[in-house]
Amino acid sequence: MIKFITGIPKAELHLHIEGTFEPELMFKIAKRNGIELDFNNIEELKKAYNFSNLQEFLNIYYAGCNVLINEVDFFDLTWAYLTKAKEQNILHTEVMFDPQTHTDRGILFETVINGIHNALADAENKLGISSKLIMSFLRHLPEKKAFETLEQAAPFKEWIDVVGLDSSEVGNPPSKFARVFQKAREEGYLIVAHAGEEGPPEYVTEALEFLQVDRIDHGNRSLEDMDVVNDLIERKMALTVCPLSNLKLKVVEDLTKHPLREMLDKGLFVTINSDDPAYFGGYLNENFFEIQKALNLSKEDIIQLAGNSFKASFLNEIEKSKMLQEITDYINLH
Ligand code: ADE
Ligand code: ZN
Repeated sequence: MIKFITGIPKAELHLHIEGTFEPELMFKIAKRNGIELDFNNIEELKKAYNFSNLQEFLNIYYAGCNVLINEVDFFDLTWAYLTKAKEQNILHTEVMFDPQTHTDRGILFETVINGIHNALADAENKLGISSKLIMSFLRHLPEKKAFETLEQAAPFKEWIDVVGLDSSEVGNPPSKFARVFQKAREEGYLIVAHAGEEGPPEYVTEALEFLQVDRIDHGNRSLEDMDVVNDLIERKMALTVCPLSNLKLKVVEDLTKHPLREMLDKGLFVTINSDDPAYFGGYLNENFFEIQKALNLSKEDIIQLAGNSFKASFLNEIEKSKMLQEITDYINLH
């Protein structure tokens, strides 16, 4: 099964580029930029990766970002992820970045996006990996700051396909950002939002109704309300589920209790993703391995999940059918 999962062509739809920052690269870039980390070495840093909830993780994740200063830092961070994606047979990836994490520290928007974009462009040419870029607003900050970020993005609109919403969920409902997402939609961006990770099912409904999302990130707590589940099914709304993230952030106490099986059985349109792989103990394939083992998923389930990853992507229909054909070809050989 491990070999089958490793080889099957797949897409990744929920990945924070800042969450791919491996300790080794973090120390290397910190040294290059003359910045002291709060930790003396890699082992000490890794020991801090023990979270009781989303906020504890976010505090460490934002602190790690402080060493990213120059365009080359953002390039190196993104390129390191893309080479990993290549090894994992990821044909297409939809990468999120949090501009406010950097602009709030005085880094220019263009420094961030140039580095990320150039790595994504190189990946298309040199690794054959296609991508979409998702710009996420930090929901713990005021809506006004999101409006400013949308404005800063305008000169780079051709490089950004999607606008998203992440960071501390509880107390920051999607409705807080209704107007800025309306503007983003009017400007032609697709929309995603984290909802129902720690927040209640009402936040999923708000993301659907106030933000008019094209996809929901996480969505676990939708299962607490059958009306929300039925609404998601009716809309054929995809959920980007992140098993190892859910385990590490205590959204689930054990992977055997992960709701993925129930989601599949109810007919929800689910995909598997890694969220912040450097912090949660595994990239996309490891998420597949661990959840397959915990829930005893069949080969057919894996094929369905890999297929869903392309179907739920923001590729066009021709690109989707090409990539789905790659799965069919792979199955015929394995
Ligand atoms: N930012 C990075 N990872 C996140 C997550 N899992 N939830 C909310 N915001 C995030
Ligand atoms: Zn996320």
